Amino acid sequence: MNAPAALAGGPALQRIQTFDMMSEGQRTAMKRIARHDQAIVPQIEFTTPASMFISDERFALEQAHLFRARAIPLAVSALVAEPGTAMGHDALGIPLIIARDKQGQIHVFLNACQHKGAKLLETCEPLKAARMTCPYHAWSFGLDGKLLAVARPETFANLDKASRNLAELPAREHGGIIWVMLDRNAEPDFSPLVPELAEDLEALDLPRLHVYGRKRFEIAANWKLVLEPFLEGYHVQRLHAQTVGPMFADVPNVVDLLGPTIRQISGKANFVPEDLAIVGENVHKTVTTVYNMFPNCVVITSPWYISVMMLHPRSAAHTTVEYHMLTRAAPDNPKAEELYARSYDMILNVFGNEDFRAAEISHAGLTTGALQSCVYSGLEASIATYYGVMRQFLPE
Ligand code: FES
Ligand SMILES: [Fe+2]
Repeated sequence: MNAPAALAGGPALQRIQTFDMMSEGQRTAMKRIARHDQAIVPQIEFTTPASMFISDERFALEQAHLFRARAIPLAVSALVAEPGTAMGHDALGIPLIIARDKQGQIHVFLNACQHKGAKLLETCEPLKAARMTCPYHAWSFGLDGKLLAVARPETFANLDKASRNLAELPAREHGGIIWVMLDRNAEPDFSPLVPELAEDLEALDLPRLHVYGRKRFEIAANWKLVLEPFLEGYHVQRLHAQTVGPMFADVPNVVDLLGPTIRQISGKANFVPEDLAIVGENVHKTVTTVYNMFPNCVVITSPWYISVMMLHPRSAAHTTVEYHMLTRAAPDNPKAEELYARSYDMILNVFGNEDFRAAEISHAGLTTGALQSCVYSGLEASIATYYGVMRQFLPE
C-alpha cells in the first residue's frame, strides 16, 4: 500500500515510524526475526482442559485472582487526552467514570452519585466538562471527584460534604493505557506496569495517537477463546485466507515477556532482514508487533494505524470487546480519510467476522462435551506461554 502524499510528514507527530524510532527492546527483537526460509517451527506438547473455557467456577476464580487482585488495563488514554474530559465506562458491567482533571491527572470513579447513587454520566462518549452534575437532584462533582455543590444545601442538617466525594479506584497511566484496581479494598498492585512496556508503547506514540474509531462487540464466547487468536499465527493462513492471510508468513514469532505482558514480533510475508536497514522505511510495513497485556488487552501494529482491544469478561460464555483504531492524527485530507475508512472497515470485518466468529464457534463446540481438552501446535506456542503466566496468579 503506498502512502498518500499527505501522510509523508506532519507537524505534531512524524507520520511514518522508522526502525530507529523504535525502543531498544523492539529493535533488538526485530533483529532476531529470521528469514522465513530459515525459521524453525518447534514441536510442542501442550493441552488445556476444555472445562477452563466453559466452567462458571473457573470464571469466578479468574475474576477474583486475575481481574481483581491486581491492576488490569481498562481503557486507552487517548480517549480522554485533554485535561477536563470525562466519560462513562460500562463494558465491564460495573458503571465507571474515567476522568482527566484540570491538572491532567487521570481518575477512575464508581459511576454513582453520593446522594442516592444515580449514575452521574449516562454516556460512554468522552465529554469536555468542568464538572459532572447528577441528572437527579443536581449535585455536582469536580473531575477530581470532589463534591462541589448541593442543591438547596440549607435543607440538610450537618451534611458533611467532604465525606461525599466520589468513590475512587486506584488508577495509573502507563504507555497510553489506563490501568485500574477494580477491588478498592485490596492492596493496590501495579506490578504489571514494567518500564520496558512503557518504553515500547511510548516509542509507538500510543499516548499521543488519535482515536479514529471505536466499536463494541458482544461475543458469545469465553474471553480466553477471544484472546487466543491474538497469541498464535496458526490460524492466519487458514481462517483469514480470503482477507489478511496472504500478508503474513506461516512461521513463529519472536516472543519476549515484559513483566506479564507477551510481546510477539513477526516479519510480514515479504520480510527480509535487510528491510530493517532501509532509511525512511515505515517499519510497520515490514514488521507486525502484538502485545498481550495481561490479562485482557491486545495491541497490534499496522502500517497506518494501531489496534487496541480490551476484552472484558462478562460471564463464562460472554465477552465484551472494545475495539479502538488509533491513527497518527485525525484525517486532514480526502486521501487519509479514504485510507483510514477502508482500513477501519477491513479490520472490523477481519476481527468481527473471522476472529470473534472463530471464538464463538469454538465455544459452542466445547459446550457439547465432545472433547476433554484442546491441543496446541508449535505455531501456537505463545498460548502456552500465556497460560504459564496465568498459572503464577491462580491458586494451586
Ligand atoms: S442522586 Fe444524585 S443528586 Fe440525588
Ligand atoms: Fe486472526
